[in-house]
Amino acid sequence: MGPEVIREGIKVLQAASELAGVELSFEEFPYGAEYYLRTGHLLEEEDLRELSRFDAIYLGAVGDPRVPTGLLEKGLLLTLRFYFDQYVNLRPVKLYPGVPCPLKDKGPEDIDFYVVRENTEDFYVGLGGRGKGRWREEHEMMRELYHLKLGLDLETEGEEIAYQLGVMSRRGAERVIRYAFELARREGRKKVTAVDKANVLTHLYGLWREVFQEVAKDYGEIETEFSFVDAITMWMVKNPEHYEVVVTPNMFGDIITDLGAMLQGGMGMAPGGNLNPEGLSMFEPIHGSAPKYAGKGVANPLAAILAGKMMLEELGEREASEAVEEAVKGVLREGKCLTRDLGGTSKTSEMGDAVVRKLRERYEG
Ligand code: IPM
Ligand code: MN
Repeated sequence: MGPEVIREGIKVLQAASELAGVELSFEEFPYGAEYYLRTGHLLEEEDLRELSRFDAIYLGAVGDPRVPTGLLEKGLLLTLRFYFDQYVNLRPVKLYPGVPCPLKDKGPEDIDFYVVRENTEDFYVGLGGRGKGRWREEHEMMRELYHLKLGLDLETEGEEIAYQLGVMSRRGAERVIRYAFELARREGRKKVTAVDKANVLTHLYGLWREVFQEVAKDYGEIETEFSFVDAITMWMVKNPEHYEVVVTPNMFGDIITDLGAMLQGGMGMAPGGNLNPEGLSMFEPIHGSAPKYAGKGVANPLAAILAGKMMLEELGEREASEAVEEAVKGVLREGKCLTRDLGGTSKTSEMGDAVVRKLRERYEG
């Protein structure tokens, strides 16, 4: 459904830029499952160099049952994130008035926080493998495991094993944690919560915690806390109003932002930005390609539209960005145009049109 939702996003962005007097032009690229099946190519070095000429990337969604799991994810989405070193994945969790929320007794005043997900390290680095191995005999009490030897003899015949390594660098942790504190300061938020599993993955998230505590010293006015990832899935449901800015390693961020999306009304409402504050950023709805619904015109394009809003903001076009958000809020408040996920019957393109109409009302009365 990538092309369907991006079409509406471009429609809205074009209207907003025209009305706000911003110059915005798009060039489309075909990368994705169709392109791969036709040509056998995913993204080549020269495609990436070509993309680096642009000010921002607006991405639909990846994943297709005709292609092996992980191929498009790694060969497209993760390649883009890593190549352009988009080390922040910013995912606002914000419930707009008029959007149904599955939590009893919680409303828009309770659900409004940012998840800042680290986006280039952790278990996403791709280090791992498969082989035959066995636990070493001298491996009593798992002593060696704690010294970061796998304790596995990969040379010998043994059971089939697979392993995957999470890697964190001090610099990688520092830059994303600092971004979270700067965001809190900029947005007048009072608290930053760091997520990890430092009680079990002591090496990886021990470093994360250490760096968090160091960076926090530069932001004395901001309250800090740690939350284990399992605990935060519980508290996000029970007390979402507690959260203001949440900073998280990559994989836990992936998981808790799907939960966050449900709090804000579903995957159709959740935008995200893959940011390189010093370079080229990329904006996308956080949902996948949902092949089951693709091509039927039933997808909610608001996540893509709101990703476009984030793109305008990152490009420095605050007014146009705000206008898009206000238009979305206007449509939702009115409650006449609702896609299926929001309890209505409106089509993907009707939602795009409704947002454009609201934009025109703002500028043209
Ligand atoms: C996301 C997605 C991706 C991720 C997949 C498609 C690689 O789930 O953006 O949240 O795991 O980051
Ligand atoms: Mn995800």
